[in-house]
Amino acid sequence: MHHAQLKPFPQAFLWGAASAAYQVEGAWNVDGKGPSVWDTFTKIPGTTFEGSNGDVAVDHYHRMEEDVALMAEMGLKAYRFSVSWPRIFPSGRGTPNEAGLAFYERLIDALLARGIEPVLTLYHWDMPQALQDEYGGWESRRIIDDFEHYCVTLYQRFAGKVKYWVSLNEQNYNLTNAYQLGTHPPAVQDRKRFFAANHIAFLANARAIKAFRQHVPHGLIGPSFAYSPAYPASSAPSDMLAFENAEELTNYWWLDAYCLGRYPLAALNWLREQGEAPEILPGDMALLAEGKPDYIGVNYYYTLTFTDNPLGGQGLARINTTGKKGTTPSSGIPGLYKTVPNPHLETSNWDWAIDSTGMRIALRRLASRYALPLMITENGLGEFDQLGEGDQVHDDYRIAYLKSHLHACQQAMQDGVELLGYCAWSFTDILSWLNGYQKRYGFVYVDRDEQGGSLRRIRKESFFWYQQVIKAGHLLD
Ligand code: BG6
Repeated sequence: MHHAQLKPFPQAFLWGAASAAYQVEGAWNVDGKGPSVWDTFTKIPGTTFEGSNGDVAVDHYHRMEEDVALMAEMGLKAYRFSVSWPRIFPSGRGTPNEAGLAFYERLIDALLARGIEPVLTLYHWDMPQALQDEYGGWESRRIIDDFEHYCVTLYQRFAGKVKYWVSLNEQNYNLTNAYQLGTHPPAVQDRKRFFAANHIAFLANARAIKAFRQHVPHGLIGPSFAYSPAYPASSAPSDMLAFENAEELTNYWWLDAYCLGRYPLAALNWLREQGEAPEILPGDMALLAEGKPDYIGVNYYYTLTFTDNPLGGQGLARINTTGKKGTTPSSGIPGLYKTVPNPHLETSNWDWAIDSTGMRIALRRLASRYALPLMITENGLGEFDQLGEGDQVHDDYRIAYLKSHLHACQQAMQDGVELLGYCAWSFTDILSWLNGYQKRYGFVYVDRDEQGGSLRRIRKESFFWYQQVIKAGHLLD
C-alpha cells in the first residue's frame, strides 16, 4: 500500500524510551532487596558474556535523578521501566519492603514532575529466587496468587500516578530461553515443561489484569510481546505452510491466549499429538477470557524467515551472543519449520535482520487480528559503539534504524493502526542479559564494560537527533 501523503504523528503520541530493572539498577542487595533468579544465575560460570551481571549494572538505583534529568533534557514524553519484584517482596510474598516501594515512588514522582508519563512494567524476568526455590516459579500454579498479591501492592500504591502498565514482558522470549534453550534461569530444556509454564503464566497474567480492573479503573494494561513476524522463504506452498506453522507456534500461541482467551487450532492439535500440550483445568479458559488486555505492547526488533523442515531435521539453536556477524545457526522444530537468512535484508552484527517494513507488517497483523490499540514498548539497534575524541559517539547507524522504524509506525497509523506511542530500547546503555555491556542500545552512552568503569553518562548523536524529533513532533529529513 503506497500512500501519497502521511498524516502527522498524533499530538498525544508518547515519544518514549525504555529500560528494565535488572539491566539498569544495580544495587542488587541494597535496601532490603532479595535475590532474583538472575542474581543467582549470572554467578554460575559460563552463563553470560564474560561473566557479566547486574550487581552494579549502570547504577541507575543511585543515579536515578541524573538519568531523569537527562530524559527531561531530551524532551521524552514517556519512560518505560520495570519494577523488581524481589525489591518489593524480598522472598516473593508477605509484607512489602517499604524501601523498595519508596524507590519507585521517587522515580515516578521525578518523571511526573517533568511531564514524563511513566509506563510501569510489572515483570521483566527477575523472579524472586525464593519462589523459584520454593515451588519452581512459573511451573507451579501457586505463583498465580503470589503474582497477583505483588501486582495489587503496586496497583494500590501507584494507581493515582501511573496510567500505563505492562503485565509480563516477553513471556514468549524469556520462557523459550528458560525452558527450551536452557539459556535463561532455570536453564531447562524440555518442551512439555515449557508449554506448561507458559499456560500458568497466561493464567497469572489474566488474574493480574482482572485485579487491575478493580484497583486501577482508569488505567490501561497489556503484556509486552516479543513479536518477530514470520515470513515464508519463498512462494513454494511448503514454505508457506512452514511460515503458517511458525506464526502459530512462535507468535499466535501467546497473542491468541492473551487477547482471545484461546489457543490456535493447528498448534494445539500438534502439541496434543506430541503429548506436550499444557494441562487445561476447568475454569482456566474462562479466566483467560476475563483477563484480556486493553492494548498490546509490541517489542519489535526483526522478522524471521522460515522454510520447510522435515521430520528429523533442524532443532532449536542458541542465538548469537558474541556480536560475531554470521555465526547464528538455523533454528527450528523438526516437522514444522526452520529459519533461513533473508537475502533481501541487511543484518546487525548480532545477525538480527534490519527490517522496518517488518514493523509495519507486525503492527498491521496485530491491530487487524485483535482489534486493540498497540504501543511499541521496545525497538532499537544493539551495536558496538565507539566513544570518540571529545566525548562524541557517532551512532548514525542507530539514527538510521530508529528513523526508518518510526517512519514505518507512521505508515502503519496511516493504514489504520491505533498506536499509542513508541518506546525506543533503551534510554541509557544497559546490561544485555546474555551479551554483556558490549551490545549497546542507548541514546546515552554509559562508560563501563564487563570489567567496570566510571559509569559516566555521555549523550550520543542519537540523543540530539531524538530530542529534535520529539520537539518537532515529526520526523525530520
Ligand atoms: C528484549 C528484552 O528481548 O530485547 C530486553 O525485553 C532486551 O530486556 C532486548 O535487552 C534486547 O535484547 P538483547 O539480547 O540484545 O539484550
